[in-house]
Amino acid sequence: MAFTLKINGTNRSVDVDGDIPLLWVLRDVLGMTGTKFGCGMALCGACTVHIDGAATRSCITSVDSVGKSAITTIEAVGSTAAGAKIQKAWLDREVVQCGYCQSGQIMSASALLASNPHPTDAAIDDAMSGNICRCGTYVRIRDAIKHAARSNGRGD
Ligand code: FES
Ligand code: FES
Repeated sequence: MAFTLKINGTNRSVDVDGDIPLLWVLRDVLGMTGTKFGCGMALCGACTVHIDGAATRSCITSVDSVGKSAITTIEAVGSTAAGAKIQKAWLDREVVQCGYCQSGQIMSASALLASNPHPTDAAIDDAMSGNICRCGTYVRIRDAIKHAARSNGRGD
């Protein structure tokens, strides 16, 4: 079945079964491999994208459920204000170790910062709790989100 998906501001046409997860369309059909497969069961966050700005697990999101919503992936999140701040903070704070989880981490963190410019520790924990990092970069992730939040104009 043909679907037209709005991905990173561009309409992309795909011909796939409606129940295929968005993750597989991104990676296998469109070759957008920045979004990662981890668990396939909404348990790790590696596959996180934004759908209309909300952090969403693409491994359990069927392509026919997306409709005309705007999909943003790690390939383009840096063109959003929050995404650019988060990516800079990730570099400034040297967050990454192996990197596998990090596109999902950045997608969740940028969705948080876009909706909450000055998140509390509790808000950070709540937003990021579904993103697993086997390398244990959690302390640097929290620090980088706070660093990015400070660039929103209020120091601490
Ligand atoms: S691959 Fe989607 S949450 Fe793990
Ligand atoms: S940086 Fe290696 S899994 Fe997170």
